[in-house]
Amino acid sequence: MTTLGTPLSPSATRVMLLGSGELGKEVLIALQRLGVETIAVDRYEHAPGQQVAHHARTITMSDPAQLRALIEAEKPALVVPEIEAIATPVLEALEAEGLVRCIPTARAARLTMDREGIRRLAAETLKLPTSPYQFCDSLAELQAAIDAGIGYPCIVKPVMSSSGKGQSKIDGPADVQKAWDYAMAGGRVSHGRVIVEGFIDFDYEITQLTVRALGAEGQVETHFCEPIGHVQVSGDYVESWQPHPMSPTALARSREIARTITENLGGQGLFGVELFVKGDEVWFSEVSPRPHDTGMVTLTTQWQNEFELHARAILGLPVDTSLKSPGASAVIYGGVEATGIVFDGVADALRVPNSDIRLFGKPESFVKRRMGVALVHDADVEVARTQAKRAAALVKPRKA
Ligand SMILES: Nc1ncnc2c1ncn2[C@@H]1O[C@H](COP(=O)(O)OP(=O)(O)O)[C@@H](O)[C@H]1O
Ligand SMILES: [Mg+2]
Repeated sequence: MTTLGTPLSPSATRVMLLGSGELGKEVLIALQRLGVETIAVDRYEHAPGQQVAHHARTITMSDPAQLRALIEAEKPALVVPEIEAIATPVLEALEAEGLVRCIPTARAARLTMDREGIRRLAAETLKLPTSPYQFCDSLAELQAAIDAGIGYPCIVKPVMSSSGKGQSKIDGPADVQKAWDYAMAGGRVSHGRVIVEGFIDFDYEITQLTVRALGAEGQVETHFCEPIGHVQVSGDYVESWQPHPMSPTALARSREIARTITENLGGQGLFGVELFVKGDEVWFSEVSPRPHDTGMVTLTTQWQNEFELHARAILGLPVDTSLKSPGASAVIYGGVEATGIVFDGVADALRVPNSDIRLFGKPESFVKRRMGVALVHDADVEVARTQAKRAAALVKPRKA
């Protein structure tokens, strides 16, 4: 699809985002710049992406009937999932009926919304190195899996969860019950299944952004961005930087893993492949078939940020993954529980050299909700990290 239309006219190229948070907002802006007509879907009104799209729709995306009805009514050329909690069997059915093209594929959306689907594919089918793991449906099964070989320390996660929700580390027998209860409270749908993973004592973790885009002859080509380093606190990203220094062997292994998993998932678009690295050893952790939160750093580090890369790739356009400057991102949390909050200190933050910020415009703030991000580019990535954290700290959200 390299012919693009005029929005709000019969020739329009119409794209629907399923999920319109801060990542979707940037994808929508990138699509808008190419004159694509955009439909931003979310579960609540005035979601960040809905504020910049031609059309805003609010539905429960995990409800198969609501999702099918909306897609059939809007008939977008492309459906682009931005979140995991979607009734993906509906996408598979609509794709099979030839009614939509799902990005990158409906199968990829289904496999990656569930830790079991993607882990079994990566470890058992594709034989990629991963942490040792077991799936468990009860506290007794969890204890048995740990005793039978997973051992301590280990990590328990609900199979349906993201951003560290319901996830905890078990250091010894005394923590098992607590981790199980926490997982049961934090899963997306309470069907009580968890993955327990052996703890990988990695030196660092990276996100390998990988783009599947069309070449001049219409063939799919794989492109890699520079590796992104990041720090996670309780399973949630707090800062990221690019490039992360790596040994040539670790980088080559990372890219081989990224190529293998993304080729299997197929389609076109950008993927965030999460990897753990220790020396020259690399483990696959998980993959998002869409822009990755740690990749927000590319808003300041790449000629084409991850959102523009995604927009171009899904439309069949060429991409350029090259670095513009090293840089870093640091998350701005809400810090308060309130609606319609205000942000003091924005000017101070923007006086930090080489800085920029994004405020997502979320209607409601929570203490640990991501409300914005600070970005800094600098020839020295460590300087960029320090300055990005400084800029983020200068922004002070408060009740209006
Ligand atoms: N097996 C593991 N060993 C060590 N650290 C882990 C392991 N699994 C997860 N983590 C840590 O927790 C973070 C979040 O886990 P992840 O599986 O990516 O969950 P989510 O889907 O919520 O992002 C990882 O980025 C990593 O820092
Ligand atoms: Mg993750």
